[in-house]
Amino acid sequence: MGEIAVDQLTEAQAQAELERLAAEIARHDLAYHGKDRPEISDADYDALRRRNDAIEARFPHLRREDSPSLRVGFEASEGFAKVAHRVPMLSLGNAFSDEDVADFVQRGRRYFERDANPDLSFTAEPKIDGLSASLRYENGVFVQGATRGDGEVGEDITANLMTVRDIPHKLSGSGWPVVIEIRGEVYMTHEDFRKLNEQSAASGGQIYVNPRNTAAGSLRNLNPEVTASRNLKFFAYAWGFTSAQFADTQFEAVQKFGEWGFKINPLMLRTESIDKMLEHYRDIEGQRATLGYDIDGVVYKLNSLALQQRWGFVARAPRWAIAHKFPAEQATTILEAIDIQVGRTGALTPVARLKPVTVGGVVVTNATLHNEDEIKRKDIRVGDTVVVQRAGDVIPQIVKVIPEHRPTSSEPFDFPTQCPACGSEAVREVNEKTGKLDAVRRCTGDLICPAQAVEQLKHFVSRNALDIDGLGDKQMAAFYADGRVMRPADIFTLAARDARSEAPLSSEEGWGEQSVAKLFAAIEARRKPELDRLIFGLGIRHVGETTGAVFARTFGTFEAFEQVAAAAGHGDVEAMEQILAIDGIGETVARSVAAFFANERNKQAVDDLLSEIEPETYVVASAEDSKVAGKTIVFTGTLEKLSRAEAKAMAERLGAKVSGSVSANTDILVAGPGAGSKLKKAQDLGVEVIDEDAWLELAGA
Ligand code: IVH
Repeated sequence: MGEIAVDQLTEAQAQAELERLAAEIARHDLAYHGKDRPEISDADYDALRRRNDAIEARFPHLRREDSPSLRVGFEASEGFAKVAHRVPMLSLGNAFSDEDVADFVQRGRRYFERDANPDLSFTAEPKIDGLSASLRYENGVFVQGATRGDGEVGEDITANLMTVRDIPHKLSGSGWPVVIEIRGEVYMTHEDFRKLNEQSAASGGQIYVNPRNTAAGSLRNLNPEVTASRNLKFFAYAWGFTSAQFADTQFEAVQKFGEWGFKINPLMLRTESIDKMLEHYRDIEGQRATLGYDIDGVVYKLNSLALQQRWGFVARAPRWAIAHKFPAEQATTILEAIDIQVGRTGALTPVARLKPVTVGGVVVTNATLHNEDEIKRKDIRVGDTVVVQRAGDVIPQIVKVIPEHRPTSSEPFDFPTQCPACGSEAVREVNEKTGKLDAVRRCTGDLICPAQAVEQLKHFVSRNALDIDGLGDKQMAAFYADGRVMRPADIFTLAARDARSEAPLSSEEGWGEQSVAKLFAAIEARRKPELDRLIFGLGIRHVGETTGAVFARTFGTFEAFEQVAAAAGHGDVEAMEQILAIDGIGETVARSVAAFFANERNKQAVDDLLSEIEPETYVVASAEDSKVAGKTIVFTGTLEKLSRAEAKAMAERLGAKVSGSVSANTDILVAGPGAGSKLKKAQDLGVEVIDEDAWLELAGA
């Protein structure tokens, strides 16, 4: 595609890329959901989203209001009904400097200059970095909650919002209009975010990137129990439709929300003075690190509701309010060392070890250096004084070096050409497509490299691969370090060896009889892994989940896959062609698979593993043995026994096509609780509608 690697993008390029990606992803979302006519493969779609996320992680301040990351993937959104906002949910204009704020206030003063004595006071309050929601109360009772969506139409997430404790089911006090839509921000505290990651890591689960994305995912989860477990919080700060006027000023309105039972932000100030507004901004910025939740600026709003109404709106934002954004937090420190980490596929990643420094209240000791070229480009050297930047909850970055402070003895950093973990040669390959040198240098030691081996083991047991309960990154690293598990096969002989061992696992710190028994049972339970998970779990370069599934579906058994791949690896042209003929497999993958099996050590490791496990045969149903082969199926509503992904995979395994929307071509609609428009459409079209249990029966599960 001629794309620039994320870590090479300049800020301007990143901004342009984010704009392009937002438009492109939105277009594919529409093609997929709206028209049921996807134009690209799921894998390509995922790649677009991943690129968007990666750019946002590197440039958090460039995140767009319409960013795809603020909308969770299609799987989650399929389950929610749409809600048209009676009063649109707006965004805010930005101010980046004191002058911008002064201009804003002056604009107001000019706008109302003919008024005798206008109340030109403003409120100033933190801008919470979460997700906005609109909560409809009728007769004081919470009846419907929705996401912002595109501002005009959001999604009905009432059940999920019901689980948020800061949101009252009934309003207290008095004076509330018969109908009122309260608006505010759902967010996650740093403490809850940390705990969630800790729990997730302990069970080998995913690592959540930042509180805001996690809150978004939690709020749009199809299972309200998941939302409930995340302990989300809510601040009320605005409103949409109201059946009656209930206040004269912004300040008074928000105080009323407090009386009615909402949490309101304590840092709200009211003033007429620009200086006081800016002083409050700095005050809040100073408290930022200790607030316990993410904020990304201060919002100023004209206090008088009557004047707000007269001042009005421009495009999608009110004229009477503005968001004064915080700059990315920076600090200066010394770069003490550059360490090289080795990843699962051998990528050598440089990490800056810094003299500890507080950046926006958080002590920073490491920063990412991306890659060799980045170090060269910025001429970063050990001993340098560097400016470090932290924005949001992402890994800190080195912005620049301060050359005046460079020690005279300093020398350019010599990026190693040998793997620091195993000593093998580390090379930069030429990208076949672009003809350019890869940004990444890789260790060629493969399985003899201990660093790759540990990362590979972690991958093997990870959630989307073998998914062994209780065997996460931490345990795997410890088992490797003490020699209990050196290769995947060892996992399955662990229990037997442990029974004979003089130092059984249960005598290790952190383990007891029970937890060991549980772990061994979890391992036992995975002796017959699904073929697609196994192929993915082998960690062959360029073979992700989707590709793993393609191979599983194509070959059906591990033996068949291995035989063809190994033959290709030994130069069998026909075998290579057979792989290349598979829909969705290109040259890069084909070569990588062949190379993997051509390597004797890999082959040995796989053989040893296969003597311990019995991979399942991937059943590709034919018309005779599956009742749903060739049919088009749509899932809607909440499924209680299966995840959406699982139901979809199940249907596809049985030879059915899964579609996102109902049309005359739909054969079966599987409808769970909460099914809405799709159910109605299916009924109108006379499509067969069944529930989840009937589906399980039909699928023979
Ligand atoms: S007022 C009509 N106040 O910022 C104005 N928004 O950039 C409506 N936000 O979508 C918004 N904290 O999600 C307002 N104290 C605050 C806020 C706030 C966070 C978010 C909100 C909105 C976005 C606009």
